[in-house]
Amino acid sequence: VGDLTGADLKGKKVFVRVDLNVPLDDNQKITDDTRVRAAIPTIKYLIDNGAKVILSSHLGRPKGVTPKFSLAPLVPRLSELLGIQIVKADDCIGPEVEKLVTALPDGGVLLLENVRFYKEEEKNEPEFAKKLASIADLYVNDAFGTAHRAHASTEGVTKFLKPSVAGFLLQKELDYLVGAVSSPKRPFAAIVGGSKVSSKIGVIESLLEKCDILLLGGGMIFTFYKAQGLSVGSSLVEEDKLSLATSLLEKAKAKGVSLLLPTDVVIADKFAPDANSKIVPASAIPDGWMGLDIGPDSIKIFNEALETTKTVIWNGPMGVFEFDKFAEGTVAVAKKLAELSGKDVTTIIGGGDSVAAVEKVGVADVMSHISTGGGASLELLEGKELPGVVALDEATPVPV
Ligand code: 3PG
Repeated sequence: VGDLTGADLKGKKVFVRVDLNVPLDDNQKITDDTRVRAAIPTIKYLIDNGAKVILSSHLGRPKGVTPKFSLAPLVPRLSELLGIQIVKADDCIGPEVEKLVTALPDGGVLLLENVRFYKEEEKNEPEFAKKLASIADLYVNDAFGTAHRAHASTEGVTKFLKPSVAGFLLQKELDYLVGAVSSPKRPFAAIVGGSKVSSKIGVIESLLEKCDILLLGGGMIFTFYKAQGLSVGSSLVEEDKLSLATSLLEKAKAKGVSLLLPTDVVIADKFAPDANSKIVPASAIPDGWMGLDIGPDSIKIFNEALETTKTVIWNGPMGVFEFDKFAEGTVAVAKKLAELSGKDVTTIIGGGDSVAAVEKVGVADVMSHISTGGGASLELLEGKELPGVVALDEATPVPV
């Protein structure tokens, strides 16, 4: 996709769709500013090149105008990170917004109010998209986390505002989640976890086409065990996915992919942080017990398998890492990837819970790439096209 490089931005009004959908606590304080920080390089570039920057985002899933979903809490953090005081509009379209845009100096930043306060946003209504487009000369999509939504501010707007190009964050996400994954330095290992095989089928199938090694963890492994005829006690199992699990194992074999399932598991007598726990071989889960993490032998085997790799992508935790007692498998993977990053291995954290895990371990900064997407990362890894990306101009540079 086209990007900002080469565009003459001086004095241009640039509509930038960012994903500032961050978690807020009860006092409207940001509890994780990863997405805010990730949005900064594009905004800084625009400021430094004398553009008038108009930021648009959604926050949450409001039904109409809802004060608790206002983007107001984002203003202090954005201003701090950018080193300038940004201006906030109380709406995202209309006369007030137009006035604020007109008053914006070169290098100034205006944050529009939550674009989802209008139902037309999610409906991708052309009239609404046209209104969004009417205030700017150029469209930049840097909202990777929302690129899987065909909404007015991510897709519709591109029909009324040309050029439409990618911001640096969106570009980086595509470079890693599509580029590095499609033509990886080999050996290429994929680590897929999470509780349900049903939500990761597409990702596993797609990665099986590309990777040399596939390590599976998380709640989904019990469906694979059961498919192989093992007893799984009261572990999570998707009964309707047993034959699918078998076919994935067969597919891996046919493709020559080394698929490793954990050889031992940490089991618990209930789903709780203070449950009694013990480590057992995968083939010896007693009745009444459930597997909540991968065991130490598995960690050792996984680490050895990862040792030889040149590219690793990780999506989904190895166990219930929200409970400290069952976090070791996930923590071990995070630490191993951090170590590999230091040895010139490309390490990609493919969004969602695995990002929370590397952050919990404090190794986020050393990874080659941490995706800011949840659903968007999954869809991209499944090999799907994202509407917010497809809508952008193909060519670079951007004469405006
Ligand atoms: C996300 O957090 O995944 C994105 O911001 C998209 O949000 P949505 O799932 O509400 O569309």
